[in-house]
Amino acid sequence: GTAPDLAGRHVLVTSGGTREPLDPVRYLGNRSSGRQGHALAATAAARGAEVTLIAAGVEVPDPAGVTVRRVGTAAELRAAVLEAAPAADAVVMAAAVADFRPAHYATGKIKKRDGVEPDPIPLVRNPDILAEISARRARPGQVVVGFAAETDDVLANGRAKLARKGCDLLVVNEVGAEKVFGSDHNEAVVLGADGSRTPVPHGPKEDLADVVWDLVRDRLADARG
Ligand code: C5P
Repeated sequence: GTAPDLAGRHVLVTSGGTREPLDPVRYLGNRSSGRQGHALAATAAARGAEVTLIAAGVEVPDPAGVTVRRVGTAAELRAAVLEAAPAADAVVMAAAVADFRPAHYATGKIKKRDGVEPDPIPLVRNPDILAEISARRARPGQVVVGFAAETDDVLANGRAKLARKGCDLLVVNEVGAEKVFGSDHNEAVVLGADGSRTPVPHGPKEDLADVVWDLVRDRLADARG
């Protein structure tokens, strides 16, 4: 629906996928299109929320009526999230954040040499932003939502991840060769830290976004008392 049930709320959404540079022309990236995050931002705005969207490496146009900040790496995304989080009633981490980044950045383009095998690319861990903001809660009663893409044991892995991350809600997508990435549709189950389980049938990413905002709205109302 388009009832302004998020009026007076400020929400922060991350979208897309981070890009971790290797040299001036290459990066380690992922296949996240930004469509789900953008659908979340657009539906929240349509429901009356003030929306800040942090977009990493997205190819889709900015949604209307939303404040957009563009970032590249996980470190940039983290800085933008930490800066915006204190003002947010809810944080929805839809972006695919790289778990690892190249340990070294080559300031010049890495070249191939005849007859010489390439060097391996050492990686280091990126900080887990979702776990960090879930533990910290920049604002009392803030609702934190994570996303997870799983290929097998979707529910068991989702429950374990929800507990590990410490967020309030985890949207679990089943991904496979032809599923989800770059598609206009999604099928998911939303797990709650309170034990709730909300299946979302295959449908447009806007429908999943509306279910997420319904669950967030209910939790914000509960916290308000
Ligand atoms: O651990 P995994 O990457 O499957 O978790 C996905 C969720 O965690 C997403 O909500 C993503 O935005 C978030 N995440 C994060 N920082 C990372 C990795 C993932 O915030 N370094």
